[in-house]
Amino acid sequence: MSASAPDLPADVLLDVRDLAVAYRNGRGEEVRIVDGVSFQVRRGEAFGLAGESGCGKTTTALALLGLLPTSLYRPTGEILLNAADGLVSIHKRTERGMQQVRWAKVSMVFQGAMNALDPVMRVSNQIGEAIRLHEPGIDRRGVEERIAELFGYVGIAAARSRQYPHEFSGGMRQRVMIALALACKPELVIGDEPTTALDVMMQAQILQLLEDLRRDLGLSLILITHDLSVLAETCDRVAIMYAGEIAEIGTVRDLYAKPEHPYTQRLLAAFPAVGGPRQLAPAIGGVPPDPADQPTGCRFAPRCHRVQDICAAQAPALRALDDERAARCHFAPWPTGSTT
Ligand SMILES: Nc1ncnc2c1ncn2[C@@H]1O[C@H](COP(=O)(O)OP(=O)(O)O)[C@@H](O)[C@H]1O
Ligand SMILES: [Mg+2]
Repeated sequence: MSASAPDLPADVLLDVRDLAVAYRNGRGEEVRIVDGVSFQVRRGEAFGLAGESGCGKTTTALALLGLLPTSLYRPTGEILLNAADGLVSIHKRTERGMQQVRWAKVSMVFQGAMNALDPVMRVSNQIGEAIRLHEPGIDRRGVEERIAELFGYVGIAAARSRQYPHEFSGGMRQRVMIALALACKPELVIGDEPTTALDVMMQAQILQLLEDLRRDLGLSLILITHDLSVLAETCDRVAIMYAGEIAEIGTVRDLYAKPEHPYTQRLLAAFPAVGGPRQLAPAIGGVPPDPADQPTGCRFAPRCHRVQDICAAQAPALRALDDERAARCHFAPWPTGSTT
């Protein structure tokens, strides 16, 4: 493995450059479901990926893990992981090579924990398998100690590791999934809607747990959700995706204080802060475009409450507004006080 690429700063853990993912539809056309996505995740940072269902969040996450079946999908662009022991180019890895990266450097907590855990296998065996895969020399005692440590991290009594997945409640199962994700000491954990199936109390606990673990273990975290109030509490920076593209990216503080893309403006109105005033939010009318039939101009134009003539005619670029912020809107930055 080579040393850090000269243009990748040491504090950057993940560099996604112009990522696109296409599949071939029934008519043999290539349809892009992720289109020109670029972002960086810094070491120790919590990065949020948000947007309505169908905008390409899960596809992006699966591309980061090299989990998109090559028979169906064609990913292009570059994904660089600046791992502690060298730079990894995800797209250039073979499936065998990716097995050394998955779990050990990048791991994922899926939405439905029940689907990711094998129902007929004790939890300890599933976690043990992941550990042994990456540390073939480890003995039984070592595995047991690691599992006890992992259960300690996620706040479950170590003895319960001998139980089967169905013996855990939804929230507990998601803790088990987090323990599994941490089993091989990854540098980056991706949570894809990790709390969506849980009730509000449990959601808050799991988010707090992820935040504590990130701080205590020095992890980087990518948190994927359609719920912007979740990201506000947890993340440092966030990218808002729409129709396969990044519509806006910035620090949580700036972006929530003055959203520059009309889509972000409407999304934020739809998810008032927990405990904040609950007004009736203006809905975003319509639905996202069919990936096989994107509008020629701005992809959000058909639903935009601030649409102008230029929007349907010309696709806006993702333009940098300052060091941290970029927005894909012809009219950004909007005058102060006009961004709702
Ligand atoms: N093999 C496929 N064939 C057709 N459409 C697909 C395929 N895979 C993904 N899609 C579509 O790609 C879009 C992005 O999906 P996804 O990444 O799951 O979005 P999100 O996680 O943001 O909800 C969706 O519109 C989905 O229906
Ligand atoms: Mg998804």
